[in-house]
Amino acid sequence: MSADDWWKCGIVYQVYPRSFQDSNGDGIGDLDGIRARLDHLVSLGVDAVWISPIYPSPMADFGYDISDFCDIDPCFGTLDGFDALVQEANAKGLKLILDFVPNHTSDRHPWFVQSRSARSDARRDWYIWRDPAPDGGPPNNWLGNFGGPAWSFDATTGQYYAHSFLKEQPDLNWRNPEVRAAMYEVLRFWLRRGVDGFRVDVLSQIVKDEQFRDNPPNPDFVEGQDPFLRLTMLYNTDLPEVQPIVAEMRRVVDEFSDARSSRVLIGELYLPLARLVAYYGLNAKGVLEGVQLPFNFQLIGTEWQAARIDRVVRDYEAALPAGAQPNWVLGNHDRSRIASRVGPRMARLAAMLLLTLRGTPTLYYGDEIGMTDVPIPADEVQDPFEKNKPGMGLGRDPERTPMQWSAAAHAGFTTGIPWLRLASDWRMHNVEAQSHDPGSMLTLYRRLIALRRAQPALHRGTYEALEAGDEMLAYARESEGQRLVVILNFGATPAPVPPALVPRQPIVLASTDPVRAESIEGPLVLAPCEGVVIGSANDKGPTTR
Ligand code: NOJ
Repeated sequence: MSADDWWKCGIVYQVYPRSFQDSNGDGIGDLDGIRARLDHLVSLGVDAVWISPIYPSPMADFGYDISDFCDIDPCFGTLDGFDALVQEANAKGLKLILDFVPNHTSDRHPWFVQSRSARSDARRDWYIWRDPAPDGGPPNNWLGNFGGPAWSFDATTGQYYAHSFLKEQPDLNWRNPEVRAAMYEVLRFWLRRGVDGFRVDVLSQIVKDEQFRDNPPNPDFVEGQDPFLRLTMLYNTDLPEVQPIVAEMRRVVDEFSDARSSRVLIGELYLPLARLVAYYGLNAKGVLEGVQLPFNFQLIGTEWQAARIDRVVRDYEAALPAGAQPNWVLGNHDRSRIASRVGPRMARLAAMLLLTLRGTPTLYYGDEIGMTDVPIPADEVQDPFEKNKPGMGLGRDPERTPMQWSAAAHAGFTTGIPWLRLASDWRMHNVEAQSHDPGSMLTLYRRLIALRRAQPALHRGTYEALEAGDEMLAYARESEGQRLVVILNFGATPAPVPPALVPRQPIVLASTDPVRAESIEGPLVLAPCEGVVIGSANDKGPTTR
């Protein structure tokens, strides 16, 4: 076992804490709830849990507006409860990853309260303050992700402050060394409490242009799209100055790595491929000094077609620097759920894809039972994105609805009133019901994960793209002489697999139905949206844990 095995060979599971499990009947998920459900994660077979923000917050952006980086919001629990969670997770063999939100704080954070109190305040420069433009308007044309300008005027001191998101989320000034030192202390605070790493929020945006130049128009903008996309974020995202800061962050988490287990940084980065892979931080000596896992969201953004995905995987594999660990993501709390994007049948194929590709997979809670986006009526909307830009399909409540555990009241999520409505089908689709159903999505996920864990070819093997025509995606995974072939039919009709691709070996797992596990005689025909793993399973293969 090497110190990196857990995040290189393992699987990450994202918990959106408000929606996972409520333990005290207030309708909001909490840390004790997560603790009570750890066995679900163990039986699923994942290795690490990433929990979205749990820190004190006015909840303008549901925890991504933090008013104290070193405590727990009372709605989620206490620091003691957090320590108990770490301990119990670790005892069950699970690593714990927290969300680190470096770009901004809440406007109620004491640092910002101080910063806005006077131009002469010692913390003034911890945030980004600028004089109004000559016409009294914002200093430049930058836009906020959730609508309106990225600047708000503060009458007390007569200047504007920058906020890439809501006006309640002022941007920190990462050019200020005091800010960097303070934020690294935040990392150390949680590392000392035993966390195994961080998912770093909007990492590419933490440094802004020193001259605050206007962003140019986006030539690809189409009327009707989110108006935020009107401009290309040339001067407030992915500036060269971000990279040395990433390396500094990495050195901080490395202080806590040891021979048994390394600490990990995962970057939230929606960037074109060439820019994305720069965040591995390959330096002149060939050492990767950036984040270990720059999130690869291409399966979220790409058209769901075999030929497109084939291209994406090949290009990604080719773009990775030597020694870089790939990773794949199907969904998260900001994007429509996979089962809604591609449909329930295809979602099974997507699960097989995610769990057989080369690289660390991240699962979004609920996807393992095929949860879908839940339409939220206008008067129940919670997400500020939807409130600020209603009716554009940008709201994120639909993919954040409560986890469906059982057929008990409110799906076993809460004894109170859930903060967000449940999917209407929760009585049928829940963890308990699917646990006993051999044909369920949950059973498929468990089998795929068990296979991945047991087979070195899947959790650490090489990737070889195979030619299988436009509707089929095929690849081989190989390790220590073991070769598994994965063939996925993205088409809407039954399709014969080119015979040359089919090894004379049994089907180890099919995405459609476990009874398909069989030896192949004669031509192999895959049903629509069916995928298979073929080869000789290595029964004694080491597991990742
Ligand atoms: C990205 C997070 O995933 C999203 O939920 C949040 O609203 C923004 N960053 C702002 O922190």
